[in-house]
Amino acid sequence: MTWARIRLSDGHTAPGIAFGSATRRSTGATSKSVTHILTALKNGFVHLDTAQRIPREQLFITTKWSEGDMSPRQACEESLKQLGTDYIDLYVIHHTWTAKPDIKTAWRAMEELQQEGLVRSIGLSAFGYDEVKAILEDCKVKPAVNMIMLHPSVLSETQPLLDLMAENDIVPGGYSSLKPLWDDGAGSTVRETASDIAQALHRSPEHVLLRCAIVYTSSTSLERIESLIPAGDVEISSEHVKKLDEAGRGHDKSL
Ligand SMILES: NC(=O)c1ccc[n+]([C@@H]2O[C@H](COP(=O)([O-])OP(=O)(O)OC[C@H]3O[C@@H](n4cnc5c(N)ncnc54)[C@H](OP(=O)(O)O)[C@@H]3O)[C@@H](O)[C@H]2O)c1
Repeated sequence: MTWARIRLSDGHTAPGIAFGSATRRSTGATSKSVTHILTALKNGFVHLDTAQRIPREQLFITTKWSEGDMSPRQACEESLKQLGTDYIDLYVIHHTWTAKPDIKTAWRAMEELQQEGLVRSIGLSAFGYDEVKAILEDCKVKPAVNMIMLHPSVLSETQPLLDLMAENDIVPGGYSSLKPLWDDGAGSTVRETASDIAQALHRSPEHVLLRCAIVYTSSTSLERIESLIPAGDVEISSEHVKKLDEAGRGHDKSL
């Protein structure tokens, strides 16, 4: 159980692996998600992306302002009611198009939610370079996290954004990090390289690819869910990281 906790710029820490309530790949996953979430909790996941019976203080809940037609306050209060909790650990703006009337005003509303204690940390999801830059020009509190698609085939396209985030202490929350395993468009070379490295380390390709700061993953396979928490101690050498990055170069079309 050695997934490190990741320090956020506002002083809070987040568990390095999170379980999402639905996978993007498997049909029917949403209807089965309660079983999977319960299995994930039983197997040591304590960070949920949207979404329940373990003492509240031991859980870390990420959820999102997704409905642009609601204000972040309305949406947040709705989520608190549905989750049966009085605070959210990490509240993020789901997409740039949720941020109404504009990104800067939306971010100020997120800062207010944090000031009032409804949410502990505030962040972004799927925000690109220009949008993150716009927030940084105007904010009182920097985003703690930006959730982005992160796997070797999108790295060269994403590097300027990752650099900007690193300069500003914004932690990458990587989702779809296993895409090279479930989508040929994300680069079969990455899949082959991850499999070779996994074999050398006596691990699985999933364990090799879930290697960014906070990883948001999900699964409908009970076996896979059980295997993920013990994978927190997998160490990938810089040489292996280089091989994965090289395998991903030239496959940037899946963002
Ligand atoms: N903020 C956003 O905009 C956003 C966007 C997307 C996702 N997310 C978050 O990130 C979470 C995970 O997203 P994701 O599903 O894209 O993550 P992912 O970790 O890339 O993919 C999980 C999927 O990979 C499959 N998989 C694992 N190992 C495999 C293998 N060896 N071969 C083939 N398939 C394999 C799993 O299948 P099995 O079910 O068979 O195990 C599962 O369906 C979501 O639940 C959500 O919380 C956020």
